[in-house]
Amino acid sequence: MNKRFLFFTACFASLLVSCGGNEKPAAEVNKDSVVAVSATLPDANSFHDTVGGQPTALYILKNKNVSAAITNYGARVVSLIVPDKNGNPTDVALGYDSIGKYIHQPETYFGAIVGRYGNRIGKGQFKLGGKTYTLARNNGPNSLHGGKKGFGSVVWTGKQVDDHTVELSYLSKDGEEGYPGNLKVKVTYTLTDSNALKISYEATTDKATVLNLTNHTYFNLNGQGSGTINNHELRLNAGQYTPVDSTLIPTGKIEAVANTPFDFRTPTVIGSRVDNDNIQLKYGKGYDHNFVINRTAGDKGLALAATVRGDLSGIVMNVYTEEPGVQFYGGNFMEGTNPLKNGKRDDHRSAFCLETQHYPDSPNQPGFPSTELKPGQTYQTSTVYQFGTATK
Ligand code: GLA
Repeated sequence: MNKRFLFFTACFASLLVSCGGNEKPAAEVNKDSVVAVSATLPDANSFHDTVGGQPTALYILKNKNVSAAITNYGARVVSLIVPDKNGNPTDVALGYDSIGKYIHQPETYFGAIVGRYGNRIGKGQFKLGGKTYTLARNNGPNSLHGGKKGFGSVVWTGKQVDDHTVELSYLSKDGEEGYPGNLKVKVTYTLTDSNALKISYEATTDKATVLNLTNHTYFNLNGQGSGTINNHELRLNAGQYTPVDSTLIPTGKIEAVANTPFDFRTPTVIGSRVDNDNIQLKYGKGYDHNFVINRTAGDKGLALAATVRGDLSGIVMNVYTEEPGVQFYGGNFMEGTNPLKNGKRDDHRSAFCLETQHYPDSPNQPGFPSTELKPGQTYQTSTVYQFGTATK
C-alpha cells in the first residue's frame, strides 16, 4: 500500500466519522483534501417512502475505507464506494438516486437480491414431488429471476444491526409467483474490516420448493456510468461452463472453456473476444453464461470465483462464494435508457454482473446440483465481494 493511499484512507475515515449519518459531499467538507473526491452516498431521504403499505428506507454501512448504501426495496445495493488506485472514492455499483426510479424500472435488477429462482427456468415450468408447477413467463418462453414480481421488487423488513451490518427479511407466501411453500428468507449484508461486502443468505420452507438466491449488482470498477467495461480485465476460476440454447436455457452439457472465448482462466480483457463469431456469444448477445467454479471434490466452503480489475481505476474486485456457479453477464441488454445516480446513464455494456448461483434451469436438469429445499432443512450460503487496488 503506498503512502498516498494510506494518507487518503486516514482522511476519508475521519470524514466519515465527522459526517455521521448526515453524509455531505466530502469535497465540501475538506477543500484541501489531496485527492479529487468523486463519489458520495445518495440522500437517504429520497428512499423514505411507502410501497404497497410498507416503509422503504436506505441503510448506510461503513468501515474506514468503504461505504455502502442498501435499500429494503428488493434488498438492493444502491451504492458501493471504494478507493481507487489514487485513493479517490469511486462508486462501483450502478444504481438510482431515489426509490421511485427503482419502482419504475424493476426489470433492470440493479443491485437486487433475485429469487426465488435467480436466472432462468425453462418454459416457466418444473416438476417437484410428482407435481408440475407453472411460473410466469417473463423472458420469452422462460421465467427469469423469480417471475413478474420477484424478490427484487418486494419490500423486505430491514434491521440495521450496527455500522457495518444490515439484515433484511422477507416471507414469500405459498404460491407466490407459482412457487410452493411459505419461504422465510433472511439476507445479511456486512462490510468487513478487509474491505469486503459479504452477503449471507438463509432460508427455510414449510413445503418442498426450489431456491436459487443471488445478488444482481451491476459493477463498473472505473465508477458507475463511466463508460465501457470491455477494457476491464477478468479472471474466472472456471475450467467449464454450461452452454445454452437460443433462449439462454442450458443444454444440460458441461463443457470445457479451453480454446473458446469463454476461457478466462488467465486474466483477459473482457472485450477482446466478445464479438467473436461464436454461436454461444450470439445467443447471449455477448457474455451471459454460467461458469462452473473450480473446486476440489466435496468442498462447499468459500472458493474464489472471479477477479476483475478496472483498467482506469486500478480497483480490483475478488469474488468468493459457496455456490457452485457464477453467471457472468456483460451488460448486453443495457441500452442507455435509464438515469443513474449523478446524472449518468446505463449505456450498453457499461457494467457487468457476477451472479454467484446454482446453475440456471437446475429444477429441469437432473445432471446439475439440486436446488430443492425441503422442510426441516436450512438453506445457507454466502458470497463475498472484496476490494483492493493494483496498478497492473
Ligand atoms: C441476468 C440474465 C441476463 C439478463 C440480466 C438482466 O444476468 O442472465 O440475461 O436478463 O440478468 O437484464
